[in-house]
Amino acid sequence: MLNIALPKGRLGEKVYEIFARSGFECPEVLGDSRKLVFENPANGVRYFWAKPSDVAVYVERGAADIGVAGKDIIDEYRPDVYEMLDLGMGKCRMCVAARKDFRDNPDLTLRVATKFSHIARRYYASVGREIDVIHLNGSIELAPVLGMSDVIVDIVETGTTLRENGLEVIETIMPISARLIVNKSSFEFKKDQVLKVMQALATAVEE
Ligand code: PRP
Repeated sequence: MLNIALPKGRLGEKVYEIFARSGFECPEVLGDSRKLVFENPANGVRYFWAKPSDVAVYVERGAADIGVAGKDIIDEYRPDVYEMLDLGMGKCRMCVAARKDFRDNPDLTLRVATKFSHIARRYYASVGREIDVIHLNGSIELAPVLGMSDVIVDIVETGTTLRENGLEVIETIMPISARLIVNKSSFEFKKDQVLKVMQALATAVEE
């Protein structure tokens, strides 16, 4: 049985559909229940719904053989897993954004609010800027609106949240999309099964 961690939510449903199209159906997964684990012994898969930011933890520790996580999560938490395939979905970008009237003074330490502290530190180290990271867990846009930070480092998808709060993108740090990740031991001990799923998914993604 191959254990597959799916990110709970809208992206996870789309991700499951790709697995199903690739020959690994388990129709119960999309049912309207509070159940978290579903299996279909006929095609050797067991799916479970995990919080998106936790998928990499399940895969790293081997509770899941494979999983799907955003590039944002992978870069932030740097789990010890193989990143194998870009599924080309869940596309968005990691950006620096600020209030429209923000004027940067490069001589001052920049106050950066974010859920992605590591990505923010790495980015500002690469451009040689000193920053003060304010780590938040959500609704990051509030910080510059209330004057608590100068900028935010956050995910932008449609841009609606920024627009509706009087903020704008000032830099794009990197594009984000959903990636297939694989547990390192599973890639050794369940290699045939993992490769079978990977190849089928790669074909489905191309189509
Ligand atoms: C994410 C992100 C932005 C928003 C961007 O938040 O942190 O706030 O989506 O999407 P948009 O560009 O389409 O408006 P999420 O919904 O994950 O919740 P959060 O505020 O708790 O981080």
